[in-house]
Amino acid sequence: MCELTCRLISKPRAVVQELTWGQDLGTFSPGGYDFVLGADIVYLEETFPDLLQTLDHLCSDWTVILLSCRLRYERDRKFFRMMEGLFSVQELLYDPDNDVHIFKAQKKVQERDL
Ligand SMILES: C[S@@+](CC[C@H](N)C(=O)[O-])C[C@H]1O[C@@H](n2cnc3c(N)ncnc32)[C@H](O)[C@@H]1O
Repeated sequence: MCELTCRLISKPRAVVQELTWGQDLGTFSPGGYDFVLGADIVYLEETFPDLLQTLDHLCSDWTVILLSCRLRYERDRKFFRMMEGLFSVQELLYDPDNDVHIFKAQKKVQERDL
């Protein structure tokens, strides 16, 4: 393998960091992420405010959030209604065989930014 190929493969390196919704957010770059991916993380209503705060902190206007989830209970839909206060949310896909939804969200452009 040539050196260029090695460099392309080896950089940039992924960094893994533990995150609890709403805690120590100052250790994560505000708006510093291109993508936020979440699989089956919307199900505990008591965590919804912290989860929303975390997404708000991590995302810039350009960050794309992709969330896959089952909407098992009405309360799970409540999270997406909460999200719509800050983000434009769009359902990209529903897989009926697995009862899984995939949502895309991006920060709403605030009127003050227009
Ligand atoms: C049902 S599991 C899904 C795990 C994995 N994404 C998957 O699809 O197999 C829910 C995950 O949400 C995350 N989670 C739940 N509450 C959390 C919280 N308060 N802070 C951080 N992560 C949390 C944990 O990583 C937990 O494993």
